[in-house]
Amino acid sequence: DSAVAAAREAARSAASLDELRAIVESFEGCALKATASRTVFEDGVRDARVMFVGEAPGREEDMEGRPFVGKSGQLLDRMLASVGLDRKTNAYIANIIPWRPPGNRTPTPQEIAICEPFVRRQIELKAPDLLVCVGAPSTETLLGLKGIMKVRGRLMGFESGGRTIQAIATLHPAYLLRSPIAKRQAWRDMLTIRKTLGL
Ligand code: URA
Repeated sequence: DSAVAAAREAARSAASLDELRAIVESFEGCALKATASRTVFEDGVRDARVMFVGEAPGREEDMEGRPFVGKSGQLLDRMLASVGLDRKTNAYIANIIPWRPPGNRTPTPQEIAICEPFVRRQIELKAPDLLVCVGAPSTETLLGLKGIMKVRGRLMGFESGGRTIQAIATLHPAYLLRSPIAKRQAWRDMLTIRKTLGL
């Protein structure tokens, strides 16, 4: 499809995160952009060793222009803090989709396909040592794995920009807010992340 091809070409042409950000901000091939108030590209430290990738901005993120600033973002911040991470010093955060879907609906497979080249290029340019897929959509899109409850918590290799980095899937904080019992598993994942980073 032509929007996906355009996204691939545009993403490939970015030589830096600043360039990629500008390209995403001016990309007109995804209908979500028309209904969103801002492009939500990134937050955190660009030379952090760890990069977290969620699904899509919600209402608060759309208003602020930064990922994970609403209720689930506050829980994500507490999860990060529990292992010595925070977005001001050593963590970098992005989403699969940079524009809020109307009413927070689930992004369509087509919208994900259009945005995927951008987040893949973002990972390449950011070049983290560890990629953390936050929630099922990120895990399916980037790692190609279904069944988040089964696949979470396992370290695996991820090909990015000609090198193999480490990757792990964990549960989405929005899910943890609905199912607090699952925090046990998310906590285990955070410990694996801490160990992998040698924190
Ligand atoms: N949920 C996400 O996946 N990303 C955000 O930025 C906010 C909520």
